[in-house]
Amino acid sequence: MKTQTLLLVTMALLLVGTSTRRAADVAENWTKHCGSCHGADGTAKTKAGRMAGAKDLTDGAYQKQFTEEQMLQRLKDGVVDKGKEKMKPFKAVLSDEELKALVAKVRTFAK
Ligand code: HEC
Repeated sequence: MKTQTLLLVTMALLLVGTSTRRAADVAENWTKHCGSCHGADGTAKTKAGRMAGAKDLTDGAYQKQFTEEQMLQRLKDGVVDKGKEKMKPFKAVLSDEELKALVAKVRTFAK
């Protein structure tokens, strides 16, 4: 009985541990790979963002211009405009799961 309770508590703690770690990963990935251009808040008011020409992701009208599938595709393959790379491809850097989580995060910026 006692061992069983201990086991249950351990399992519960493990579950909590995994879910918080996963949530932190999205935020971490955003800061590490996206925030330099798109900003912590998605408004792209950063030096690198202005140089690259990143747009305001909190703009709901802008976000309506692309679907989640299109976002995912652009994140994987990058954005190239007139032969110039505006956003690099992330498929070699981040997994599908991580990119999908970032797509979901991008949607939370839209007002
Ligand atoms: C070097 C700066 C830079 C970095 C780093 C960067 N982006 Fe971008 N991003 C851009 C630019 C520039 C555009 C294109 C804006 C345009 O002209 O439409 C863009 C476009 C986008 C779009 C709009 C996609 C579409 O379908 O039009 C999304 C969503 C996005 N980025 C998310 C991300 C995420 C998530 C990351 C991190 C994994 C990231 N970006 C990293 C510069 C950057």
